[in-house]
Order: sequence, then C-alpha cells, then structure tokens
Amino acid sequence: MKSYRDFDHYLKDFPNREGYFGEYGGSFLPEELIPAFREATDAYGAICQSAQFINELRRIRKEFQGRPTPVYHCERLSRLFGNCQIYLKREDLNHTGAHKLNHCMGEGLLAKFMGKKKLIAETGAGQHGVALATAAAYFGMECDIYMGEVDIAKQHPNVIRMKMLGANVIPVTHGLKTLKEAVDAAFDAYLKEYDHAIYCIGSALGPHPFPMMVRDFQSVIGIEARDQFCEMTGHLPDAVCACVGGGSNSLGMFTPFLADPVDIYGVEPLGRGTGVGDHAATMQFGTKGRLHGFESYLLQDENGEPLPVYSIASGLDYPGVGPEHAYLRDAGRVNYVTASDDEAMEAFFLLCRNEGIIPAIESSHALAYAIRYAKEKQFGSILVCLSGRGDKDIDYVYENYGCGEKYFQK
Ligand SMILES: Cc1ncc(COP(=O)(O)O)c(C=O)c1O
Repeated sequence: MKSYRDFDHYLKDFPNREGYFGEYGGSFLPEELIPAFREATDAYGAICQSAQFINELRRIRKEFQGRPTPVYHCERLSRLFGNCQIYLKREDLNHTGAHKLNHCMGEGLLAKFMGKKKLIAETGAGQHGVALATAAAYFGMECDIYMGEVDIAKQHPNVIRMKMLGANVIPVTHGLKTLKEAVDAAFDAYLKEYDHAIYCIGSALGPHPFPMMVRDFQSVIGIEARDQFCEMTGHLPDAVCACVGGGSNSLGMFTPFLADPVDIYGVEPLGRGTGVGDHAATMQFGTKGRLHGFESYLLQDENGEPLPVYSIASGLDYPGVGPEHAYLRDAGRVNYVTASDDEAMEAFFLLCRNEGIIPAIESSHALAYAIRYAKEKQFGSILVCLSGRGDKDIDYVYENYGCGEKYFQK
C-alpha cells in the first residue's frame, strides 16, 4: 500500500510511454487504428507542450468556459449533519453545465492543430455530447455523436441541445442501447474516418493516449480547487470526493491532491442493489479485463464479456473504469465506495432545498457519500466535485420522484 508521500513525482511517471498505469491501461487496437492513435499520441506530446497551445487553452478556459469555477461552502447543508463542513467545486457552473467541456475544448484545440475536420464521440447522459458539440461549433468542425436509444429517451433536453449546436446525433439501437454500445458504435465510425476525424472519448479511458490526455485536461478542476480551498480556509480539506463513471471528473479532482495528506474517495453507483445488472460498481465487483482497447477493472462474465449495468445516472452506467483508477485502487491511495440510486436522489433533493443548487444525478452520488462522511466524522471538511448541474435530469426526476416529497416526510 502506498501513502501520499509516494506520489511526489507521480504525474511525471504515470502513465509510462506505452500508456500503462502499473498493470492497467495500454492500447489494444485493430491494426488499422494503430497509426491514428499514434498520431494522436505524438501530436499530444508535441503540441500540448507548446506555449501557443497552452496560452490558447488558458484563454479559452477563461473567456469561453468561464473558469475558474468557484469553490462553495454549503453552510446550511453541513449544519444538518453536525460539524463536518461540506464544500463543492462548482463544475456545474462550467459552460455547458458540467466538467466535460474541460477535455472537449482541449481535444478540439488539439484536433485543430492536427488539421482535423470532424469530432466523433459517444455520450451517455448527453453532457459529453453537448460539450463536444459545443467545441465543434467553437472550432468550426463537423460533429457526430453516438448515443444509445435508451439514453436518447432519458436525456431529451441534451439531445435537442446537441442538435441545436449543429451536431449529428446518431441513435445506437443494439444491445442495452446505452453507453457501452454507444462507445462500440463510435469506435466503428472512427475506423472509417480517422484520416479527417478525431475520436474524443468521453472519459479518462480507452486506448493510450486518451486516459492520460483526458486526465491532464481535467486536472484544472483539482488545481483550481486546491488553491481556492486553501485560500478560503488556510489549510487543505481532510477529504475530497467525486463520482466515478469512466473516471474523468474524479481524476481531474484527485490528481492534484495525490501527494497531499488528504483522504480521497471515488463514489461508484450501486443502483438498485448488488445483483448482476443492478449496479455499475466496477471497483467493488469487477475483475481485471479488457474492453474498448484498454485494460482495467471490468464487470464481466467468465468469458470476458461485459455484464449488463444499471444506474439511475446515465453518465455512470459503464461496465469498466479508467485504468488510472484501477492503479490508484490497487495502490491503496484512493478509497472506492458506493452510493445507491436512493441515496443519490436523497442527496439531490437535499442540495436543492438547502442550498438552491440542482445537481446532476451523477454528481449527487458524490454528494451522497459526502453526507455519509459528514454524519460519521462529525468534524473536519470534505470537498466534493459537483461535476454537473441537474437541468438535464429534471423531467426524469419529476416523473419518477416528483419534487422529492418522500424524502421530506420523515
Ligand atoms: C455531470 C456528470 N458527472 C459525471 C459523469 C461521469 O463521467 P466521469 O466519470 O468521466 O466524470 C458524467 C458523465 O456523463 C456527467 O454527465
């Protein structure tokens, strides 16, 4: 087991040149795609270190995205549970309403420097699709977004937003018709179009260099949050937490704190319970395997086929997890915990009523854990990555939970 003291040079050493975080990661690709991923790796290595790229990305983050997003102290919410103070890093206030734009603008800028004309991606909750459609509009590129039919029905407002932004939303109709199938379809499309397009995977996963690239672009969250928290309180938080789907907002939040004496919690969706097909808690119930061109923990059957997954949050129902998380779990530096649908929804309504913030259902999982932490610890502080806002979820929530009456009748 490693302690925070072992992480001083971590970002320089991980991943290695082949894209491995310990035994996880790598790049397992069909022969035809190897040159495309090598091109992206070389371009990222060269272009992203240039002053021109860094300065342009800084300008975009400030003027277009509205960064830095604030850190906010939830005084009323914290008071409900004792003396432990809950703080939020407000990625819901990032342009387009979630953290996804952090890596989409980086990838869009990289695509521009590489002379690409089209951005391709999959989306689950639609946040990544909206963010990429936004980046495509900003950079004047075409955009194809693959989305499962189930998610299209559940995330209607985001489908409209993508279309308004000029993207083609391509329904995926096979399998469970959710995120995993959308990733399959986006990969297939990229295979045919890689000479003029770039695949902007929606999280810190996929073949090298995407887990590294997405983590690096997202680390603006934790870099800002660390400075802001220290400035507000004069010290580091006792703990940080974030929800883990593929793992991008969480790695963005966690990596700047890895070398600090701070406890770190990644929160996975426990959905309806522990049965197969009732959750997407890869770290709790998964085993090492290979999916979508990388190795990590997976929810898989004895033949290595992905198992069905479920979460109330469309952005969390993926049967795998980014390879860096698998490494951090084995190293013992990040604790992986779960929150059920019901716990997430209770946290959702508590934040609405006590702080005037409607969170994304994905982010509500992180908040649910922070509430559990506050109740148990009764002192100290926990900084939560509020990865997105809940506007996309309100129709679904209203139909299924009304305005949260059941949580306030106790
Ligand atoms: C608001 C929000 N938070 C979190 C996630 C989970 O993704 P990740 O684990 O890559 O941050 C999503 C995915 O769509 C999302 O929309």
